[in-house]
Amino acid sequence: WTAGAVGLLIAYLLGSAPLGYLAGKLLKGIDIREHGSRSTGATNVLRTLGKWPALVVLIADVLKGVAAIIVARWFCPWLYTELSPTPPTASGLQIWVPWAVCLAGIAALLGHGRSIWLNFTGGKSAATGLGVLLAMSWPVGLGAATVFGVVLALGRIVSLSSMLAALAAIVLVCGYEQPLPYRLLVIGGGIYVIVRHRANIQRLLAGTEPRLGRGGPDIK
Ligand code: G3P
Repeated sequence: WTAGAVGLLIAYLLGSAPLGYLAGKLLKGIDIREHGSRSTGATNVLRTLGKWPALVVLIADVLKGVAAIIVARWFCPWLYTELSPTPPTASGLQIWVPWAVCLAGIAALLGHGRSIWLNFTGGKSAATGLGVLLAMSWPVGLGAATVFGVVLALGRIVSLSSMLAALAAIVLVCGYEQPLPYRLLVIGGGIYVIVRHRANIQRLLAGTEPRLGRGGPDIK
């Protein structure tokens, strides 16, 4: 089980990389968790630090998700060798890889939302989730990104766009021909992303969720 444990740990640590937090510390000497929505994600970086830091954090957070899936695929032959008496075959790997992807994707999402470097606080895992989706199955990732973009263009509310993109990913992965582990990853990950938006849902219902470009320094 060494390969599986090492692979999962790497995926979790990749997700845990506290990029939004570091941006706050390096650029303004602040703890971003005490500002805006308190999230370490790119939307709160945008609100608190401006557009260029937000763009960098957004891209890096997406890449964390992509990297976690690459690591899972890379570790799979090693895991296979550890757990199976026969050498890895192409058809065997076809069964193993989706399960490794599923577990690594969940580890990366949990790492971003509950970072070991931030006392198990963090972001809402939407950008890292997009990276996981794109690396897992690019059509599903592209579909979710399109829903995000359209809803954002129409309503300019990032949280609503993220949650509807998560829902779209669930619908797409269930509608498309996809392996069971991918479906489990997207359903579990999508629900996780939505649950991480609890405070946003309350603000949306109260009509106080800020729109892009109009978020003040603090969200009550
Ligand atoms: O990905 C996070 C975004 O959907 C909402 O961020 O800071 O407005 O809570 P925030």
